[in-house]
Amino acid sequence: MQLGPAFRRQAEACAELGSPMYADLLGRVADALLAGGEEAAPFRAVLAGHEDDPGPSAIALRLMGSVHRLVLERRAPALALHYPSVGGTWEAEGCWTAFRDLVADQPAAVREWLDRPPQTNEVGRAAGLLAGLLEVVRRTGLPVRLVEIGSSGGLNLLGDRFRFCDDTGAWHGDEGSPVALDGAWTGPGPWHGGATWPEVVERVGSDLRPVDATGTEGRLVLTAYVWADMRVRLERLRGALRLAQEAPVEVRRAGARDVVDGLELVEGTVTVLWHSVMWQYLDDAERADVLARTEELGAASTPTRAFAHLQLEPRRRTAEEEHAFWLVLRTWPGGVEEHLARSRGHGLPVDWGH
Ligand SMILES: C[S@@+](CC[C@H](N)C(=O)[O-])C[C@H]1O[C@@H](n2cnc3c(N)ncnc32)[C@H](O)[C@@H]1O
Repeated sequence: MQLGPAFRRQAEACAELGSPMYADLLGRVADALLAGGEEAAPFRAVLAGHEDDPGPSAIALRLMGSVHRLVLERRAPALALHYPSVGGTWEAEGCWTAFRDLVADQPAAVREWLDRPPQTNEVGRAAGLLAGLLEVVRRTGLPVRLVEIGSSGGLNLLGDRFRFCDDTGAWHGDEGSPVALDGAWTGPGPWHGGATWPEVVERVGSDLRPVDATGTEGRLVLTAYVWADMRVRLERLRGALRLAQEAPVEVRRAGARDVVDGLELVEGTVTVLWHSVMWQYLDDAERADVLARTEELGAASTPTRAFAHLQLEPRRRTAEEEHAFWLVLRTWPGGVEEHLARSRGHGLPVDWGH
């Protein structure tokens, strides 16, 4: 996709997903690129070589992540004044001027991260995943072995140590948690009526490109790709990063197929294979292999050596439907897909039964 339209489309997506600041900045970059001449020159220079990047490489988010990282590293003090993630206050004109100046004056620094795929670990998605886990525990009554593919930094593997508020205003989970997901759950979900909180006895994280959420570089990566004016997302992330310091979860470098191939069930537990917003990165062959292995595991499961496959992925139930973030559970015998709840890209709220 050409650069101008790619930036325009990302601006629209940011507006829709609640980031007026990124929508404004990206819209202005799109205007500049489409105007050409002097206005476009600093952006054309910094984006040189990326003109023909395919749409999914998300060049606009690469640029925003790279700039945000410079702000977080205190290498862009004028722009930092406008970035809420470091205590600044966004003001559209001033922010745009400082943004454009940074790109014009420090092109080499801005280019440092343009070859890097954006990588986030969306803590809000724990709302859907934990709702599904409560349902698994309600059905099996067993302690849980959590196995995640595409874990990024593995933060959601600590989801049982977060707290979640339902639509009656009741909180569930760890009272003292630094991660509080307000407005997490709506509808008649498994949190009603004295649900048993999951006892997680094992956590296995994996990713093709794992991020070390306990190291300086990993924390910087995960923070830089969160949109800088989305304070609530940043707060959740920071809380989860604190938890990860206390209770690190290893995320091993491995593709989904290899992890699921090597998976075995354990007596006295339910093994839950879960994943969020990673399925789209697998090719058809890897998807088929993962699903074939889940069938084998399901067939080998028993009521005391149980298996569940839980996913929170963008999908649609019928060809006519729009894509939505569905929480889908498969349990055995049967292995039938149940669409339990709908959520949003960044995780909240989770509407049970819709
Ligand atoms: C959009 S991120 C989602 C991360 C996390 N699950 C979340 O919801 O915040 C997708 C992740 O999938 C990983 N990934 C992509 N292809 C993969 C594969 N074939 N096997 C395992 N992980 C993969 C990426 O490295 C990235 O960390």
